[in-house]
Amino acid sequence: MILSINGKDHRVDDKSAGEPLLDVLRNHLQLTGTKYGCGEGQCGACTVLLDGTPVRSCITPASAAAQKKITTIEGLERNGQLHAVQAAFLKHDAMQCGYCTAGMIMSAVGLLRSDPNPTDAHIVRYMNGNICRCGTYPRIIAAIKDASATLRNSHETASVPGEPGGVRR
Ligand code: FES
Ligand code: FES
Repeated sequence: MILSINGKDHRVDDKSAGEPLLDVLRNHLQLTGTKYGCGEGQCGACTVLLDGTPVRSCITPASAAAQKKITTIEGLERNGQLHAVQAAFLKHDAMQCGYCTAGMIMSAVGLLRSDPNPTDAHIVRYMNGNICRCGTYPRIIAAIKDASATLRNSHETASVPGEPGGVRR
């Protein structure tokens, strides 16, 4: 089985086809930025993008990702430059322990791809499945709004690797 992750193909044993994508990323490919929280699709810590759409990798079989472009938190930066959402989370100190942060950022990238200028209500609704036990929600919302403005001002989309035309200047 071939998994296309962050713009690169990775060969994975076919025996892992039924394993959760999260386990394959973390245990077989050492992509440990994606976190295990609940293992039941309830917390969002394990969020990755499949063809640009956020999914819970703990409840997604690896086989379901085989024909898709997988993006993890490790794949957002380009040429050493953080993605606008990553930079905004740092700027707004939108984390405490940081355990939810990768999943939050991946969901936020998905949000800004579908709605480049979301209202506060839409941000709250969209991010509802991502839980922060440290309660940094106000700063997370501020970071997403800031990233939204940055992306719109720079005429970039909330792009992900491997997508043609993802960045427009
Ligand atoms: S670890 Fe996947 S949703 Fe919680
Ligand atoms: S920063 Fe600790 S869980 Fe969100």
